[in-house]
Amino acid sequence: MRQACYLKFFFFILLIALLFTSCQDAETVKLQVYISEGQRLYEQKCANCHQRDGTGLRKLIPPLAGADYLIKYKNSLACIVKYGLTGEIEVNGQKYNLSMPANEGLSDRHIAQILTYINSKWAGSQERVKDEEVKERLRQCQ
Ligand code: HEC
Repeated sequence: MRQACYLKFFFFILLIALLFTSCQDAETVKLQVYISEGQRLYEQKCANCHQRDGTGLRKLIPPLAGADYLIKYKNSLACIVKYGLTGEIEVNGQKYNLSMPANEGLSDRHIAQILTYINSKWAGSQERVKDEEVKERLRQCQ
């Protein structure tokens, strides 16, 4: 009787462990999808200015690759992508002052994918930006 109970407990733990690892795998797959879709969108909507390799254009277009801005203003990135940016800004100690156009046609998911791509490629992050997070940030844009 007692042994059967241990056995049940063992299978219960095994099941939990299995569920946990399969969930993690699903998240890893999602991250990969966001990165590759993000790259496609980036090349379509952003690379003209910021360049495919994210280095920007001299003193006109700020870089994304290795940009301190991506970390310092992490919470503003969704608003910048959707509504554009004007006025002087500083990236890695260099001042820039041209206008970035808005992309109001992009959905929350598209923005999440673009930001996931940028963060993973140029800001050393391995985390997926979630659609809900973008939605929340966009609610707070000025
Ligand atoms: C027409 C050119 C142009 C396009 C297209 C463009 N940007 Fe920009 N971007 C700029 C300029 C110019 C600035 C600096 C704006 C300022 O000085 O206020 C900027 C600033 C930024 C910044 C903040 C500064 C930095 O370098 O970290 C981010 C992040 C950014 N852009 C991301 C994007 C993303 C993502 C896309 C595509 C969805 C995109 N941009 C498309 C021109 C562009």
